[in-house]
Amino acid sequence: MNYSILTDQLISLIDPELPFISNLSNLLACLHNELPSLNWTGIYYYSNSSETLYLGPFQGKPACTIIPLGKGVVGTCAQKKKSIIVQNVHTFPGHIACDSASKSEFTAPIFKNDKLYAVLDIDSDIYSRFTEQDIQFLKKTASLLSDLISSAKQEISWFPKSA
Ligand code: SME
Repeated sequence: MNYSILTDQLISLIDPELPFISNLSNLLACLHNELPSLNWTGIYYYSNSSETLYLGPFQGKPACTIIPLGKGVVGTCAQKKKSIIVQNVHTFPGHIACDSASKSEFTAPIFKNDKLYAVLDIDSDIYSRFTEQDIQFLKKTASLLSDLISSAKQEISWFPKSA
């Protein structure tokens, strides 16, 4: 995998004139299609007021919509603000199985100046999918997403009026 070309490809997809959710959607689609053996690639965005992560743009099968802080791989990553790589999801206590095909998982916090915005979550249908090179590349990609999301004018709050 040529990560340098892929990084350039990701950067070229960002249009600073667009809402960040449009850019995010394209970045996630690119990652999902370019990296082999992924069955789910997306973000969960963090609501500080409810201490909950909500499903954001993604590629893959429909997934769990709400993940409380500290729960599953995603909620633990958000709580610790640290990347978590699980080479066999069946060994991670409390792993949330949205798709039974998932065997390994990468998560990275998307944060800036200590403020958590979201979690990048990537699942593979093979065990031990994520090499050290993949992990370094994906951490850099999470930092690219942090720059993008933290520059948004306002946080996502598209709850229905009734909620
Ligand atoms: N496996 C995650 C849940 C999200 S799905 O993988 C899309 C977890 O344990 O938090």
